[in-house]
Amino acid sequence: MGVAYQKTRGCNWLACALVLATVAAAVILAVVVIRHKRSSYYVESMPMPPGANFNGNYTHAMKLALTFLNIQKSGKLPANFPIPWRGDSNLVDGKDNGVDLSGGLYDAGDSVKFGLPMAFTATLLSWGVLEYGPAMEKAGQLASARDSIRWVTDYLLKAHASPQELYFQVGDPNQDHKCWMRPEDETLPRPSLKLDPTLPGSEVAAETAAAMAAASMVFRPTDATYADLLVTHARQLFNFSDSYRASYSLTIPAVQAFYNSTGYGDELLWGATWLYYATGDNTYLAYVTGVEGESFAEWGVFPSWFSWDNKRPAVQVLLARLQLLKPPSNAVNTVSKGLTNYKTTSDGLMCSFLPRSPTATKDRTKGGMLWVGQWTALQHGINAALLATFYSDYLNAARLPGISCSGISFTPLQLRAFAASQAEYVLGNNPMSMSFMVGYGTTYPKKLHHRGASIPESQTVYDCKGGFIWLDSTEPNPNVAYGAIVGGPFKNESYSDSRTNIIQNEASTYNSAAMASLSAGLSVSGNYPVPVSWI
Ligand SMILES: *[C@@H]1O[C@H](CO)[C@@H](O)[C@H](O)[C@H]1NC(C)=O
Ligand SMILES: *[C@@H]1O[C@H](CO)[C@@H](O)[C@H](O)[C@H]1NC(C)=O
Ligand SMILES: *[C@@H]1O[C@H](CO)[C@@H](O)[C@H](O)[C@H]1NC(C)=O
Ligand SMILES: *[C@@H]1O[C@H](CO)[C@@H](O)[C@H](O)[C@H]1NC(C)=O
Repeated sequence: MGVAYQKTRGCNWLACALVLATVAAAVILAVVVIRHKRSSYYVESMPMPPGANFNGNYTHAMKLALTFLNIQKSGKLPANFPIPWRGDSNLVDGKDNGVDLSGGLYDAGDSVKFGLPMAFTATLLSWGVLEYGPAMEKAGQLASARDSIRWVTDYLLKAHASPQELYFQVGDPNQDHKCWMRPEDETLPRPSLKLDPTLPGSEVAAETAAAMAAASMVFRPTDATYADLLVTHARQLFNFSDSYRASYSLTIPAVQAFYNSTGYGDELLWGATWLYYATGDNTYLAYVTGVEGESFAEWGVFPSWFSWDNKRPAVQVLLARLQLLKPPSNAVNTVSKGLTNYKTTSDGLMCSFLPRSPTATKDRTKGGMLWVGQWTALQHGINAALLATFYSDYLNAARLPGISCSGISFTPLQLRAFAASQAEYVLGNNPMSMSFMVGYGTTYPKKLHHRGASIPESQTVYDCKGGFIWLDSTEPNPNVAYGAIVGGPFKNESYSDSRTNIIQNEASTYNSAAMASLSAGLSVSGNYPVPVSWI
């Protein structure tokens, strides 16, 4: 079950170099052959926004994105912690219920720990490590990525207090938002909320199962005991999620004001898919291709936007991976049919992303960014780009020339060009000529809506109300929250760098996690050798 890149660990550099040279020669040969065969394919030039020839520095973007996950860490920080302006915080979380819920990640510019997006953050980053671990290692970022995943899964293991009990939130957002203070100085009561059979929440439980299952694959090659522990918890959580089907938005309506979920069917499929890859247990494969697939997968529906709320497009791509790279032998008819539906739907999704496809979505800005809604506007382009990058490499690994969109053919490299267009927009190739990632380039948001970044570290403790002078200040943040990706522009490509502009100027851990995985994918060229088999 190990991932391919781990296997190269054991060789000395000379042997590695020889193997790499041979592989490189074979790849170049293969490219020449495939290129030749592809000559009948439609070749487009991507529409370039102003400032063409923009080159994203993806190793740098990856490093910054991972830095933001460090900035968001809650609990007792290690001695060598790389962020000088962060310290230990909220060490007694969970005390109200007699459980230790210290640790985890703050979600955004506030000090609340929301379980649904936190688990999603770990799933997104784990997927990136599983596909592009060697690229992260080459950039010197693999250890950081693994560390942040484990920071989250250690917390999630504690939050999963018993098989059918999952703490999904610490901190009261309504109270938190009435204060402006560093998490290190927080004095508010921080209630912890849980799901159990009387108050179930399938989307949170299944997303947590997905995070644990994906992370188990990340850690299996180096720490099988930890991987097994994650799998045990993931199986229990998935069982809880599926046995007590309900949306937490309906059982606990207070959550509607923050991470309101539109349903749990997508998370059930997402959790089962990751569990299938993590365990090879055919029960999960039967689940996603059977009745639940029919009910929840929305086969043939596109565009569909991958977000913290909607995992469906990612499930399509993740199961198309299986169909493309290692279709199960002797699969029963429903499994084969289900996997074919996931593959076909993935093709359709990609066709909706590609700007020259006849079925291209119109949900974009003039500058070419996919744009669906004003809250965390950039997440849709980033997440679609991540799926397109994965898919391009799956098609390559399956030695397929590309996909067909209403009779017009597109190559894997065109999918990567689309992905790069989205990443570059975020990094500065946009009509505003600014980077939306804090610390990237020279022109970037200087007034991120973020408590810790905006309040100077000093002897003075700014309490709940005292801190508001920093929210209202018109000066740049004293601390640079490297790698934070702001909400982003409106559809008309206007954007205002103001600390009180929460719609456009707040960041989130999941966008930075997606950007870290995307940057890893784009830091290597097309024909990247993803591990063919995960099972
Ligand atoms: C990318 O950024 C890093 C860090 O700033 C820098 O060292 C490197 O030279 C940059 N690479 C390119 C190609 O600009
Ligand atoms: C779920 O858990 C219950 C009780 O622990 C058990 O009886 C059942 O078989 C489990 N179902 C699955 C699908 O694992
Ligand atoms: C939250 O989502 C549910 C659907 O799950 C919907 O019925 C409800 O209106 C939404 N609430 C808000 C405040 O948007
Ligand atoms: C851009 O759109 C926003 C949100 O719809 C609106 O408030 C703003 O006035 C628009 N700006 C311009 C320059 O049209």
